[in-house]
Amino acid sequence: MKKKVLFVCLGNICRSPSAEAVFKHFIEKIDASDEYEVDSAGTSAWHEGEPADPRMKIHAKKRGIELTSVSRPVHPETDFDYFDYIVAMDNDNLRNLKEMAPNKEYWKKIFLMTDFSSGNHYHGVPDPYYSGSEGFELVLDLLEDATEGLYSFTQNHHQK
Ligand code: 4NP
Repeated sequence: MKKKVLFVCLGNICRSPSAEAVFKHFIEKIDASDEYEVDSAGTSAWHEGEPADPRMKIHAKKRGIELTSVSRPVHPETDFDYFDYIVAMDNDNLRNLKEMAPNKEYWKKIFLMTDFSSGNHYHGVPDPYYSGSEGFELVLDLLEDATEGLYSFTQNHHQK
């Protein structure tokens, strides 16, 4: 059974598509892609059907990471059952996901990305939408770091 990971932010055009791509890039590098199914979604449908933000794409590409996903909102009636790990980018996303969950039993599937960071300087991946390029670089720095922790967690935690 594959381990299924869903990354979630507000718009699904900056942080969560990057988290999806960074995680996929990492598991490809270590030859573990077959073990995972990875997707991303937004707590809002504001950008549904749109590709990732061009600024986010440019910064990711400089690190050899291609953002290819198209924005979609979280589908509470199916995503909470389907995915094993639902990983919020910030505390607003975390709170919204808990409200969307069909019941509190599903809360155990919901995590905060920065809880997997090697350092603990950030509590959440800050929204880069209104920032300059340093905000987009910070998103990628935090995601590249937390990806390894998340990978280890799923390896040790997974029951199926
Ligand atoms: P994301 O960034 O949640 O990382 O995709 C945002 C994208 C769009 C908006 C806010 C944050 N917006 O206000 O439209």
